[in-house]
Amino acid sequence: MKFFADTAIVQEIDRLNSYGLLDGVTTNPTLIAKSGRNFIEVISEICRIVDGPVSAEVASMDYARIVVEGERLAAIADNVVVKLPMTLDGLRACRHFAGQGVRTNLTLCFTANQALLAAKAGATYVSPFVGRLDDNNLDGVDLIQDIRRIYDNYDFETQILAASIRTVNHVKDVALAGADVATLPAAVIEALVQHVLTAKGLDQFTKDWEATGQAII
Ligand code: E4P
Repeated sequence: MKFFADTAIVQEIDRLNSYGLLDGVTTNPTLIAKSGRNFIEVISEICRIVDGPVSAEVASMDYARIVVEGERLAAIADNVVVKLPMTLDGLRACRHFAGQGVRTNLTLCFTANQALLAAKAGATYVSPFVGRLDDNNLDGVDLIQDIRRIYDNYDFETQILAASIRTVNHVKDVALAGADVATLPAAVIEALVQHVLTAKGLDQFTKDWEATGQAII
């Protein structure tokens, strides 16, 4: 499963990239607002840092404007993925961009039928929002399982990009459910490595090593 960073904070992306575990980045208008930066500038900078797909979301809702905005975003760098709304206009724009060879990410997916539409429209990625379903007493991981089954039934190439991931357990669950990608806040990526017994074991090894009085270098 690929890991994308779910953030528009360049310092976080730099840090995560330095671990060698980052396959791409997703942004949305909320994350751009949180960055406090100019949208085009911050996407350009992220695209220079990360050698992988960077999702940048259109703001308009009608087909003609979505296409113009998407073309502007796609022109920023070769690794931009145009993020589109899960609406009929968004799906139409998705089909248009698929014909132009521009990669797309259909966002705000909450049902298997929406994911089916995204695949039929030629989306590169579909983003089911796991955490927001869980927030509403629905099961986001069930949705990933359903989409995986539908896509496999018909050999759709659209990749399942599990979004709105809140916990390390979500990461394991969407991996088991067959997501192709999980987009993760920095805190979740960095929490994946943590375990109380790992920390305790390292403390003990450090003390025992120091007691030997030796040095490796
Ligand atoms: C990413 O593509 C999504 O926009 C993001 O994961 C949404 O996360 P949230 O539900 O925590 O806002």
